[in-house]
Amino acid sequence: MNHSKSFSRVTMGMKSSLIRELVASTKNIPGLISFAGGFPSPKTFPAQQLAEIFREVVKNEGQDVLQYGASEGDSLLKEQLLKWEGLDLSQDEMMISVGATNALYYYGKTLVDPGDVVLCEAPTFLGSLVAFDALEADCQSVPFDDDGILMAEIEAKVRSLRLRGKNIKFIYVIPDFHNPGGISYSLQRRRELIRFCLDNEIPIVEDNPYSRLRYSGEPLPTLFSLARGEFGDTSLVTEIVSFSKILGPGMRVAFAKGDKELIGKMVSWQQKINITPDCVAQRAVARFLEKGLMDPHIASIRAFYTPYLQKMLSDLERYMPESVTWTKPQGGIFLWMTLPENVNADELFHAAAQRQVSFIPGSKFYPQGQERYNKLRLNFSFATPQQIETGIRRLAELLV
Ligand SMILES: Cc1ncc(COP(=O)(O)O)c(C=O)c1O
Repeated sequence: MNHSKSFSRVTMGMKSSLIRELVASTKNIPGLISFAGGFPSPKTFPAQQLAEIFREVVKNEGQDVLQYGASEGDSLLKEQLLKWEGLDLSQDEMMISVGATNALYYYGKTLVDPGDVVLCEAPTFLGSLVAFDALEADCQSVPFDDDGILMAEIEAKVRSLRLRGKNIKFIYVIPDFHNPGGISYSLQRRRELIRFCLDNEIPIVEDNPYSRLRYSGEPLPTLFSLARGEFGDTSLVTEIVSFSKILGPGMRVAFAKGDKELIGKMVSWQQKINITPDCVAQRAVARFLEKGLMDPHIASIRAFYTPYLQKMLSDLERYMPESVTWTKPQGGIFLWMTLPENVNADELFHAAAQRQVSFIPGSKFYPQGQERYNKLRLNFSFATPQQIETGIRRLAELLV
């Protein structure tokens, strides 16, 4: 039987992952130095501690955690998360999900009908664009500078979309250590965005996998905490926090916090689609938190990555020509480079692969038709500091 004739419209329109294809195309190049992937270093995974905890959980609590669990997530994990974050939320303002991507999909599924507008940053995380595409959302992107999304641009965009009768459902943002942008919103820009979204009734979904991976500077409040605290609003912002870059993406554990009714609907989708998140993994994270292991572990990841970022920043300074600029993140795992207008990073990718260095061309991080071609993303969490120097030098030689 030829199934392809019966594929749904969305399935027919589905493209394979551009980033995976790019990464796969360079896989067999001997000696390749990759700044392409988004993988955390496996050296940061607390494998030994988790091995013991998983064993204890299955041994002592197997009757419970090997059973079907609650669709909203393990209440023990929620209790530990609320304690860890020092939050005074009720359990039904939080759900556990199978990674952030899963929560973002359910957030979108709850709000979007085909053709509805989702606002996002230009550039943004490709995984979210793919999830919103699957919902047939019309993703409209708004550029940002080093302080966050450009308020004049978003105001103009919202005005023109509404004049055209478009239904704007929400805005998706990554305010801390942006992927791929490497920037963090200033406090003022955070406030301006919240004020604007409150005035214009545009819900915010705040994707936060990186804020705890800060290597310098002072932490800033999340949009979620600012909206609830300073603005006294409990429904505007839904924040999604992933443990992928803290405990390992294979854990597939994340959580979402937000308005009770909205979270309830997201839980209903989770119930229909994956019944429950992985109960064993959730309890393991709960015990990890309960034993007080999370904060020291995060401190160790920060210490681990700090020299990686410093090395990449100092090598860029040392080798890159003046015509090239890049963001200077204080955390996360990415930075974003801007090339002269006439240099196409898609073409540079192939030339770079021949010189055994890779990155992700920036064009992959924009909704279709809104691409920019003189940008690229560099990941600094995977190559060793020695490889960073060699890789940046090779890349710079192609740009002088
Ligand atoms: C901004 C952003 N959101 C979400 C994710 C995916 O998180 P998860 O592994 O929890 O699905 C990533 C991973 O790279 C990311 O950078």
